[in-house]
Amino acid sequence: MIQFDILTLFPEIFQSSFGSSLTKKACDKGLIKTNLHNIRDHAPGKHHVTDDAPFGGGGGMVMKIEPVHRTLETVLSGGNDSIVILLSPQGSTFNQEIAENLTRYSQIVLICGHYEGIDERIRAHLIDDEISIGDYVLSGGEFPAMVVVDAVSRLIPGFVGNESSVLSDSYTTGLLEGPHYTRPREYKGWKVPDVLISGHEKRIDEWRRRESLRRTLARRPDLLKKVRLTDKDVKMLKEIEKENA
Ligand SMILES: C[S@@+](CC[C@H](N)C(=O)[O-])C[C@H]1O[C@@H](n2cnc3c(N)ncnc32)[C@H](O)[C@@H]1O
Repeated sequence: MIQFDILTLFPEIFQSSFGSSLTKKACDKGLIKTNLHNIRDHAPGKHHVTDDAPFGGGGGMVMKIEPVHRTLETVLSGGNDSIVILLSPQGSTFNQEIAENLTRYSQIVLICGHYEGIDERIRAHLIDDEISIGDYVLSGGEFPAMVVVDAVSRLIPGFVGNESSVLSDSYTTGLLEGPHYTRPREYKGWKVPDVLISGHEKRIDEWRRRESLRRTLARRPDLLKKVRLTDKDVKMLKEIEKENA
């Protein structure tokens, strides 16, 4: 079981994501636990102020360290298998490998920034890692936190009904996954490839591998340099390149 503790100023943003679909099922099955912690509840003073103007001037407001630190103290179990992550556009870019590495923790604490950002001392003293979901700036860390929760959770055995579908996912295999089709066999003259309805398992597997290689070569040739290819893969790639030429 992985417990996600999310520190946020806007817990309501998570309601539809965590209250439906596979994430809810995973919670019901006890595979994951999602706890939302409102940073404002831990802000001292009558007005529970969580942000302030930046020292040195400049635009925007900065999230104060004390409310975040206090919230963190109520959340951390103190075990070695906890990790505290700040969602930030300046962190390492999230990918499947990072998601896989995170599955070894039993507690993942996610801190969502907002406004202009956070007091730098949060970054310097309170976190273990910083994750970005891409080279663009969002107004808050809530959507990035949902991305991390979803990507990590679906790697837990039992989250997805069919385990093998996770194993053949894009990036898990090191390649992009090939195309999928379902009924009807023909729609407005657009047909499903014959091989998929042939019932011939070996030929279907071969076709899938070839299409996965074809798609990776077309869209993410960089991945082919990192993945271990069999002699058969190399032969298929040469054939695909010939077809393309
Ligand atoms: C408006 S952003 C602050 C950006 C900051 N001023 C900067 O230039 O790096 C507010 C918060 O949104 C979250 N955020 C924005 N973009 C993100 C991204 N690409 N990945 C992860 N978190 C992001 C972070 O938690 C950040 O503290």
